[in-house]
Amino acid sequence: MRKYQNENFNYALFGNPINHSKSPEIHNLFAKQTGILHFYKAINIPLDQFSLLVSNFFKSNVKGANITSPFKQEAYFFCDKLSKRAQIAKSVNTLKKVNNRYILGDNTDGIGLLSDLTRLKFIKKNFSILILGAGGAVQGILLSILSLGCSVYILNRTDLNAINLVNQFRKYGNIKIFKKDSLKNTCFDLVINGLSRNIRYKNIFIPSYLFSSKTFFYDMNYGSKSTSFINWCKNMNSKYVSDGTGMLVFQAAHSFLKWHGILPKIDYIIDLLNKK
Ligand SMILES: NC(=O)c1ccc[n+]([C@@H]2O[C@H](COP(=O)([O-])OP(=O)(O)OC[C@H]3O[C@@H](n4cnc5c(N)ncnc54)[C@H](OP(=O)(O)O)[C@@H]3O)[C@@H](O)[C@H]2O)c1
Repeated sequence: MRKYQNENFNYALFGNPINHSKSPEIHNLFAKQTGILHFYKAINIPLDQFSLLVSNFFKSNVKGANITSPFKQEAYFFCDKLSKRAQIAKSVNTLKKVNNRYILGDNTDGIGLLSDLTRLKFIKKNFSILILGAGGAVQGILLSILSLGCSVYILNRTDLNAINLVNQFRKYGNIKIFKKDSLKNTCFDLVINGLSRNIRYKNIFIPSYLFSSKTFFYDMNYGSKSTSFINWCKNMNSKYVSDGTGMLVFQAAHSFLKWHGILPKIDYIIDLLNKK
Protein backbone atom coordinates (compact mmCIF):
# COMPACT_ATOMS: atom_id res chain seq x y z
CA MET A 1 0.00 0.00 0.00
CA ARG A 2 1.25 3.48 -0.91
CA LYS A 3 2.25 5.63 2.11
CA TYR A 4 2.20 9.42 2.26
CA GLN A 5 3.03 10.01 5.97
CA ASN A 6 6.69 10.78 5.66
CA GLU A 7 6.59 12.70 2.45
CA ASN A 8 7.06 16.41 2.57
CA PHE A 9 3.73 17.77 1.33
CA ASN A 10 0.29 18.48 2.74
CA TYR A 11 -1.74 19.13 -0.46
CA ALA A 12 -1.84 17.11 -3.68
CA LEU A 13 -3.36 16.91 -7.13
CA PHE A 14 -4.69 13.50 -8.27
CA GLY A 15 -5.29 12.72 -11.96
CA ASN A 16 -4.30 10.54 -14.90
CA PRO A 17 -2.40 11.72 -16.88
CA ILE A 18 -0.83 14.44 -14.75
CA ASN A 19 2.61 15.13 -16.25
CA HIS A 20 1.37 18.24 -18.16
CA SER A 21 0.01 19.88 -14.97
CA LYS A 22 1.12 23.35 -13.97
CA SER A 23 -0.78 23.21 -10.65
CA PRO A 24 2.28 22.46 -8.45
CA GLU A 25 4.07 25.50 -9.90
CA ILE A 26 1.01 27.73 -9.31
CA HIS A 27 0.50 26.52 -5.74
CA ASN A 28 4.19 27.02 -4.95
CA LEU A 29 3.81 30.63 -6.13
CA PHE A 30 0.71 31.06 -3.90
CA ALA A 31 2.67 29.68 -0.92
CA LYS A 32 5.55 32.07 -1.59
CA GLN A 33 3.21 35.04 -2.05
CA THR A 34 1.16 34.43 1.14
CA GLY A 35 3.86 32.88 3.38
CA ILE A 36 1.53 29.95 4.16
CA LEU A 37 3.10 26.49 4.68
CA HIS A 38 1.48 24.95 1.64
CA PHE A 39 3.40 22.06 0.01
CA TYR A 40 1.70 20.72 -3.10
CA LYS A 41 2.52 17.71 -5.26
CA ALA A 42 0.96 16.14 -8.40
CA ILE A 43 0.26 12.40 -8.12
CA ASN A 44 -0.63 10.20 -11.09
CA ILE A 45 -2.94 7.36 -9.99
CA PRO A 46 -4.16 4.26 -11.86
CA LEU A 47 -7.67 4.62 -13.28
CA ASP A 48 -9.16 1.93 -11.01
CA GLN A 49 -7.61 3.03 -7.70
CA PHE A 50 -9.03 6.49 -6.99
CA SER A 51 -10.97 5.70 -3.79
CA LEU A 52 -8.28 3.47 -2.32
CA LEU A 53 -5.39 5.87 -2.88
CA VAL A 54 -7.22 9.08 -1.96
CA SER A 55 -8.61 7.50 1.28
CA ASN A 56 -5.09 6.38 2.10
CA PHE A 57 -3.80 9.89 1.41
CA PHE A 58 -6.30 11.49 3.80
CA LYS A 59 -5.37 9.04 6.60
CA SER A 60 -2.01 10.78 6.82
CA ASN A 61 -1.35 14.29 8.10
CA VAL A 62 -2.55 16.10 4.97
CA LYS A 63 -5.09 18.90 4.57
CA GLY A 64 -6.54 18.86 1.06
CA ALA A 65 -6.39 17.81 -2.56
CA ASN A 66 -7.33 18.83 -6.07
CA ILE A 67 -8.84 16.31 -8.45
CA THR A 68 -8.50 16.43 -12.21
CA SER A 69 -9.51 14.37 -15.25
CA PRO A 70 -10.91 11.71 -15.25
CA PHE A 71 -11.78 11.50 -11.54
CA LYS A 72 -14.04 14.51 -10.85
CA GLN A 73 -17.29 12.53 -10.90
CA GLU A 74 -15.75 9.79 -8.74
CA ALA A 75 -14.59 12.46 -6.29
CA TYR A 76 -18.20 13.65 -5.98
CA PHE A 77 -19.19 10.25 -4.57
CA PHE A 78 -16.07 10.06 -2.40
CA CYS A 79 -16.85 13.15 -0.25
CA ASP A 80 -18.69 13.11 3.10
CA LYS A 81 -20.17 16.60 2.54
CA LEU A 82 -20.46 18.91 -0.47
CA SER A 83 -20.61 22.63 -1.14
CA LYS A 84 -23.78 23.84 -2.89
CA ARG A 85 -21.98 24.32 -6.22
CA ALA A 86 -20.38 20.84 -6.08
CA GLN A 87 -23.75 19.33 -5.18
CA ILE A 88 -25.34 20.92 -8.26
CA ALA A 89 -22.38 20.10 -10.54
CA LYS A 90 -22.10 16.48 -9.28
CA SER A 91 -18.40 17.01 -9.94
CA VAL A 92 -15.62 17.82 -7.44
CA ASN A 93 -12.17 19.32 -8.03
CA THR A 94 -11.31 20.36 -4.44
CA LEU A 95 -11.24 18.21 -1.29
CA LYS A 96 -10.73 19.62 2.19
CA LYS A 97 -10.21 17.68 5.41
CA VAL A 98 -12.37 19.48 7.99
CA ASN A 99 -11.54 19.24 11.73
CA ASN A 100 -9.86 15.87 11.06
CA ARG A 101 -13.39 14.45 10.88
CA TYR A 102 -14.76 14.56 7.35
CA ILE A 103 -13.95 15.38 3.73
CA LEU A 104 -15.72 18.36 2.16
CA GLY A 105 -15.96 18.48 -1.64
CA ASP A 106 -16.12 21.70 -3.64
CA ASN A 107 -15.90 22.71 -7.29
CA THR A 108 -13.94 25.83 -8.26
CA ASP A 109 -13.93 25.24 -12.05
CA GLY A 110 -17.03 27.40 -12.64
CA ILE A 111 -15.77 30.44 -10.77
CA GLY A 112 -12.32 29.86 -12.32
CA LEU A 113 -13.63 29.92 -15.87
CA LEU A 114 -16.02 32.83 -15.31
CA SER A 115 -13.28 34.92 -13.67
CA ASP A 116 -10.98 34.36 -16.66
CA LEU A 117 -13.68 34.99 -19.29
CA THR A 118 -14.47 38.25 -17.45
CA ARG A 119 -10.77 39.21 -17.33
CA LEU A 120 -10.50 38.60 -21.08
CA LYS A 121 -13.85 40.37 -21.77
CA PHE A 122 -15.01 37.18 -23.53
CA ILE A 123 -18.44 36.94 -21.88
CA LYS A 124 -21.62 38.96 -21.43
CA LYS A 125 -25.10 38.26 -20.08
CA ASN A 126 -27.39 36.38 -22.49
CA PHE A 127 -24.58 35.18 -24.79
CA SER A 128 -25.24 32.20 -27.05
CA ILE A 129 -22.55 29.62 -26.19
CA LEU A 130 -21.47 26.35 -27.81
CA ILE A 131 -19.73 23.97 -25.40
CA LEU A 132 -17.70 21.05 -26.75
CA GLY A 133 -17.67 18.16 -24.27
CA ALA A 134 -19.77 16.79 -21.44
CA GLY A 135 -17.19 15.57 -18.93
CA GLY A 136 -16.35 16.57 -15.37
CA ALA A 137 -14.98 19.99 -16.32
CA VAL A 138 -18.11 20.96 -18.26
CA GLN A 139 -20.27 19.79 -15.34
CA GLY A 140 -18.24 22.12 -13.14
CA ILE A 141 -18.70 25.25 -15.28
CA LEU A 142 -22.34 25.06 -16.36
CA LEU A 143 -23.96 26.59 -13.28
CA SER A 144 -21.78 29.72 -13.51
CA ILE A 145 -22.47 30.13 -17.24
CA LEU A 146 -26.23 29.54 -16.95
CA SER A 147 -26.44 31.96 -14.00
CA LEU A 148 -25.54 34.76 -16.46
CA GLY A 149 -28.66 34.01 -18.51
CA CYS A 150 -26.62 32.58 -21.39
CA SER A 151 -28.09 30.03 -23.83
CA VAL A 152 -25.91 26.92 -23.89
CA TYR A 153 -25.65 24.22 -26.58
CA ILE A 154 -23.74 21.01 -25.80
CA LEU A 155 -21.89 19.01 -28.47
CA ASN A 156 -20.32 15.74 -27.37
CA ARG A 157 -19.04 12.48 -28.88
CA THR A 158 -21.33 10.34 -26.67
CA ASP A 159 -24.90 11.60 -27.04
CA LEU A 160 -26.05 9.99 -23.81
CA ASN A 161 -23.52 11.96 -21.74
CA ALA A 162 -24.73 15.20 -23.34
CA ILE A 163 -28.39 14.28 -22.73
CA ASN A 164 -27.66 13.48 -19.07
CA LEU A 165 -25.94 16.84 -18.67
CA VAL A 166 -28.84 18.74 -20.24
CA ASN A 167 -31.29 16.93 -17.95
CA GLN A 168 -29.11 17.69 -14.93
CA PHE A 169 -28.90 21.45 -15.62
CA ARG A 170 -32.14 22.37 -17.41
CA LYS A 171 -33.70 23.69 -14.18
CA TYR A 172 -30.85 26.24 -13.89
CA GLY A 173 -31.24 27.87 -17.31
CA ASN A 174 -31.45 27.56 -21.06
CA ILE A 175 -29.43 24.46 -22.09
CA LYS A 176 -29.93 22.21 -25.12
CA ILE A 177 -28.18 19.55 -27.18
CA PHE A 178 -26.40 21.00 -30.25
CA LYS A 179 -28.21 19.99 -33.47
CA LYS A 180 -26.69 21.78 -36.41
CA ASP A 181 -29.78 21.54 -38.64
CA SER A 182 -31.99 23.37 -36.15
CA LEU A 183 -29.57 26.30 -35.74
CA LYS A 184 -29.74 27.99 -39.14
CA ASN A 185 -30.30 31.48 -37.65
CA THR A 186 -27.91 31.18 -34.70
CA CYS A 187 -24.47 32.70 -34.49
CA PHE A 188 -22.48 31.72 -31.43
CA ASP A 189 -20.93 34.51 -29.34
CA LEU A 190 -18.58 32.14 -27.54
CA VAL A 191 -17.28 28.58 -28.04
CA ILE A 192 -15.80 26.78 -25.02
CA ASN A 193 -13.76 23.64 -25.53
CA GLY A 194 -14.05 21.11 -22.69
CA LEU A 195 -12.82 18.06 -24.63
CA SER A 196 -9.74 16.09 -23.63
CA ARG A 197 -6.40 17.30 -24.93
CA ASN A 198 -5.13 16.60 -28.44
CA ILE A 199 -8.37 15.71 -30.19
CA ARG A 200 -8.41 16.08 -33.99
CA TYR A 201 -10.82 18.96 -34.54
CA LYS A 202 -11.10 18.51 -38.28
CA ASN A 203 -13.21 15.45 -37.42
CA ILE A 204 -15.63 17.59 -35.40
CA PHE A 205 -17.57 19.21 -38.19
CA ILE A 206 -19.32 22.45 -37.20
CA PRO A 207 -20.62 24.66 -40.04
CA SER A 208 -18.77 27.99 -40.27
CA TYR A 209 -22.04 29.98 -40.58
CA LEU A 210 -22.46 29.35 -36.83
CA PHE A 211 -19.51 31.68 -36.09
CA SER A 212 -18.78 35.31 -36.95
CA SER A 213 -15.62 37.41 -36.88
CA LYS A 214 -16.70 38.49 -33.37
CA THR A 215 -17.02 34.97 -31.92
CA PHE A 216 -14.81 34.31 -28.90
CA PHE A 217 -13.08 30.91 -28.58
CA TYR A 218 -11.87 29.57 -25.23
CA ASP A 219 -9.97 26.31 -24.75
CA MET A 220 -10.07 24.95 -21.20
CA ASN A 221 -6.94 23.00 -22.14
CA TYR A 222 -3.65 24.77 -21.64
CA GLY A 223 0.05 24.20 -21.61
CA SER A 224 1.11 25.01 -25.11
CA LYS A 225 0.57 28.08 -27.28
CA SER A 226 -1.05 25.83 -29.88
CA THR A 227 -3.39 23.21 -28.48
CA SER A 228 -5.14 21.34 -31.29
CA PHE A 229 -8.33 23.36 -30.61
CA ILE A 230 -6.42 26.62 -30.90
CA ASN A 231 -4.92 25.50 -34.21
CA TRP A 232 -8.44 24.70 -35.42
CA CYS A 233 -9.59 28.23 -34.41
CA LYS A 234 -6.59 29.82 -36.13
CA ASN A 235 -7.36 27.90 -39.32
CA MET A 236 -10.76 29.61 -39.26
CA ASN A 237 -9.01 33.02 -38.88
CA SER A 238 -10.63 33.62 -35.47
CA LYS A 239 -9.45 36.83 -33.80
CA TYR A 240 -10.41 36.17 -30.19
CA VAL A 241 -8.81 32.96 -28.95
CA SER A 242 -7.49 31.95 -25.53
CA ASP A 243 -6.25 28.80 -23.87
CA GLY A 244 -7.21 27.84 -20.29
CA THR A 245 -4.13 29.08 -18.40
CA GLY A 246 -6.13 31.89 -16.74
CA MET A 247 -8.90 29.50 -15.70
CA LEU A 248 -6.30 27.16 -14.24
CA VAL A 249 -4.83 29.92 -12.07
CA PHE A 250 -8.24 31.25 -10.96
CA GLN A 251 -9.62 27.80 -10.05
CA ALA A 252 -6.40 27.05 -8.15
CA ALA A 253 -6.72 30.37 -6.28
CA HIS A 254 -10.27 29.52 -5.25
CA SER A 255 -9.14 26.10 -3.98
CA PHE A 256 -6.45 27.92 -1.99
CA LEU A 257 -9.17 30.24 -0.62
CA LYS A 258 -11.22 27.20 0.44
CA TRP A 259 -8.22 25.70 2.26
CA HIS A 260 -6.63 28.80 3.82
CA GLY A 261 -9.24 31.61 3.75
CA ILE A 262 -7.03 33.83 1.53
CA LEU A 263 -7.49 34.54 -2.19
CA PRO A 264 -3.99 34.97 -3.69
CA LYS A 265 -3.13 37.64 -6.26
CA ILE A 266 -3.46 36.16 -9.69
CA ASP A 267 -2.66 38.39 -12.68
CA TYR A 268 1.15 38.27 -12.44
CA ILE A 269 1.02 34.46 -12.26
CA ILE A 270 -1.02 34.23 -15.48
CA ASP A 271 1.52 36.56 -17.16
CA LEU A 272 4.39 34.46 -15.83
CA LEU A 273 2.92 31.19 -17.16
CA ASN A 274 2.00 32.74 -20.52
CA LYS A 275 5.58 33.95 -21.02
CA LYS A 276 6.96 30.40 -20.71
N1 LIG B 1 -7.92 25.19 -17.41
C1 LIG B 1 -8.43 24.57 -16.37
O1 LIG B 1 -8.41 25.03 -15.23
C2 LIG B 1 -9.15 23.27 -16.58
C3 LIG B 1 -10.09 22.85 -15.64
C4 LIG B 1 -10.76 21.66 -15.86
C5 LIG B 1 -10.45 20.88 -16.97
N2 LIG B 1 -9.53 21.31 -17.85
C6 LIG B 1 -9.21 20.49 -19.05
O2 LIG B 1 -10.42 20.16 -19.72
C7 LIG B 1 -10.29 18.87 -20.32
C8 LIG B 1 -11.51 18.01 -19.98
O3 LIG B 1 -11.47 17.68 -18.60
P1 LIG B 1 -12.61 16.76 -17.93
O4 LIG B 1 -12.29 16.69 -16.48
O5 LIG B 1 -13.98 17.19 -18.34
O6 LIG B 1 -12.32 15.35 -18.63
P2 LIG B 1 -13.31 14.13 -18.78
O7 LIG B 1 -14.30 14.09 -17.67
O8 LIG B 1 -12.44 12.95 -19.01
O9 LIG B 1 -14.16 14.45 -20.15
C9 LIG B 1 -13.54 14.35 -21.42
C10 LIG B 1 -14.43 14.88 -22.54
O10 LIG B 1 -13.72 14.73 -23.77
C11 LIG B 1 -14.46 13.86 -24.65
N3 LIG B 1 -13.54 13.00 -25.38
C12 LIG B 1 -12.54 12.24 -24.88
N4 LIG B 1 -11.89 11.61 -25.88
C13 LIG B 1 -12.49 11.98 -27.05
C14 LIG B 1 -12.27 11.68 -28.43
N5 LIG B 1 -11.27 10.86 -28.81
N6 LIG B 1 -13.07 12.25 -29.36
C15 LIG B 1 -14.08 13.09 -28.98
N7 LIG B 1 -14.33 13.42 -27.69
C16 LIG B 1 -13.55 12.86 -26.73
C17 LIG B 1 -15.39 13.08 -23.75
O11 LIG B 1 -16.49 12.66 -24.51
P3 LIG B 1 -17.37 11.36 -24.12
O12 LIG B 1 -18.46 11.85 -23.19
O13 LIG B 1 -17.87 10.92 -25.43
O14 LIG B 1 -16.43 10.38 -23.47
C18 LIG B 1 -15.75 14.14 -22.70
O15 LIG B 1 -16.71 15.03 -23.20
C19 LIG B 1 -8.99 18.25 -19.79
O16 LIG B 1 -8.01 18.23 -20.81
C20 LIG B 1 -8.58 19.17 -18.64
O17 LIG B 1 -7.16 19.30 -18.53
C21 LIG B 1 -8.86 22.48 -17.68
